[in-house]
Amino acid sequence: MTAEAKYRTLLDEAQRAYQSNARMKTFAPFPDDITPQHVDPLHCPCGDWLAAERGLVSPHYGALQDAIVAAAPHARWRETYKDTAIGDDFLSRFGCYAIIGPDGPYTSEQLRLWIVYMPVHLYYPWHHHPGEEMYMVVSGYAVFRAEGEEDKVLGSGDTCFHKSNQSHAMETLDAPVMCLVAWRNGFDTVPVLS
Ligand SMILES: [Fe+2]
Repeated sequence: MTAEAKYRTLLDEAQRAYQSNARMKTFAPFPDDITPQHVDPLHCPCGDWLAAERGLVSPHYGALQDAIVAAAPHARWRETYKDTAIGDDFLSRFGCYAIIGPDGPYTSEQLRLWIVYMPVHLYYPWHHHPGEEMYMVVSGYAVFRAEGEEDKVLGSGDTCFHKSNQSHAMETLDAPVMCLVAWRNGFDTVPVLS
């Protein structure tokens, strides 16, 4: 299967999962202005971790999980925290690539959509951004932390909303996690460590 075909399957499965989740649909409608574009792959060690991952199980979104893994070798993995003090372990194991966004295989003026993958025992430190954000767990689970709220352990189908510039953090315990992450605004400002 070509990279384009894998991305088409990924978009279809992401849309199916997104629209089956009432909280995602309420956060923002799935975009109706999606345009395909060429993307140059960018390798990240996190892609090797994902390819070797055996701990992901998705009771609700198995087809989406498979599509995320299948498209991963063609992805332009993000380097959001490359020039920060976050550390080499995080940089090599934290994985994020766009499905809909400037560095992804599709663009939209209405929504950004990424996948996030974190293997076991990884801490994603406190960070924030103007964009309002919704996480939806595809598979596995993680501890979600947000400023002013109780910590939550979220698994497949659960969602977490982050307000504009509300600091948040994540940690995997003895299982990996894979999520869909949507932004509905604030597209021009990348996340920064809090
Ligand atoms: Fe975020």
